[in-house]
Amino acid sequence: MKKRVTLKGAAAAAMATAVFAAGTSVLAEQDPTVKEMVVNGEEVMTVVADPQPGVSELDKLYDGWLFRSEETQALQMDDFENPGMIFVEQAEEMWNTVEGSEGKSCASCHGDPSSMKGVRATYPKMSPSLGKLATIEMEVNNCRENRMGAEPWKYTGGKMTAMNALITLQSRGMPVDVKVDDAVRANWEHGKELYYARTGQLELSCANCHEQHYGERIRADMLSQGQINGFPAYRLKNGKLNSVHARFKGCVRDTRAETYKPGSQAFIDLELYVATRGNGLSVTGPSVRN
Ligand code: HEC
Ligand code: HEC
Repeated sequence: MKKRVTLKGAAAAAMATAVFAAGTSVLAEQDPTVKEMVVNGEEVMTVVADPQPGVSELDKLYDGWLFRSEETQALQMDDFENPGMIFVEQAEEMWNTVEGSEGKSCASCHGDPSSMKGVRATYPKMSPSLGKLATIEMEVNNCRENRMGAEPWKYTGGKMTAMNALITLQSRGMPVDVKVDDAVRANWEHGKELYYARTGQLELSCANCHEQHYGERIRADMLSQGQINGFPAYRLKNGKLNSVHARFKGCVRDTRAETYKPGSQAFIDLELYVATRGNGLSVTGPSVRN
């Protein structure tokens, strides 16, 4: 029995090694001290030299933007070029649209979207009204269903992700500051466990790619630390804004594992954990990725 496990592990290790091309790190060329992200004239924190202890094995945190091509980086630095901003404009309209049995819009209660400043930097967190750990998507649907009498939006759907981008934009440049207190500690531990669990035929964990091999090429792509401070992310590949859980789903599928559903407790807990891995980086969504 023990022998079988060992063999299986060795075969998986060989497969995993084949996945990663012999890597030269981009971080040497793209020395973050000389590469600054300036979005619409404002500088953004792309590197954190002293991450919170006890959260991950990373000794520095890097924004996913640093790992993209110059062309893609340029798109994110100019709001007129950033294709994600079209969806933010659509969300502004939705913000002011009355919907549901109560005859209210988001603006009826929240006023200007700028009232959402700081929200994105602290989520996921305990929601007093839901009585559990909540993502921004859950808060939005809580308002829609229970405060507006409107239909909930699909968790990773276009409307939800656009609204999340509008809310996120209000915190742009603020440091991510997601707290782990007793109320959410069990969720955080669960998320951490998922992060380090090897899954799928390839037996790869999130950490295998995003902690041990960031800065290296994998197939045609360059691995980042898998941070979520840039979400929602506009992907050139699918031409739309992508939510955190949609990205998690794609990554799990790439390990050839059964994936969890967006909005599932597993992904909510994983989001909490991954968010804390990026504490200190700036909120940069909506970002642009390949
Ligand atoms: C009937 C009033 C009402 C309407 C309409 C409403 N909300 Fe809310 N919303 C609240 C209340 C009350 C809270 C909880 C207290 C708070 O955080 O302000 C809340 C909380 C939130 C939060 C969490 C904020 C935080 O600080 O943690 C988000 C995000 C949010 N609403 C988004 C929306 C969006 C988007 C819409 C429109 C689709 C909307 N709300 C419509 C009343 C409303
Ligand atoms: C086989 C390697 C691999 C594994 C395992 C993997 N990912 Fe990824 N992931 C990628 C690649 C490739 C990308 C796209 C390039 C990049 O940003 O790293 C990516 C991107 C991401 C991004 C977007 C980062 C950004 O800044 O746009 C997040 C978030 C992410 N992964 C999270 C995860 C999580 C959480 C897990 C575990 C459930 C995971 N990944 C497992 C390969 C992997």
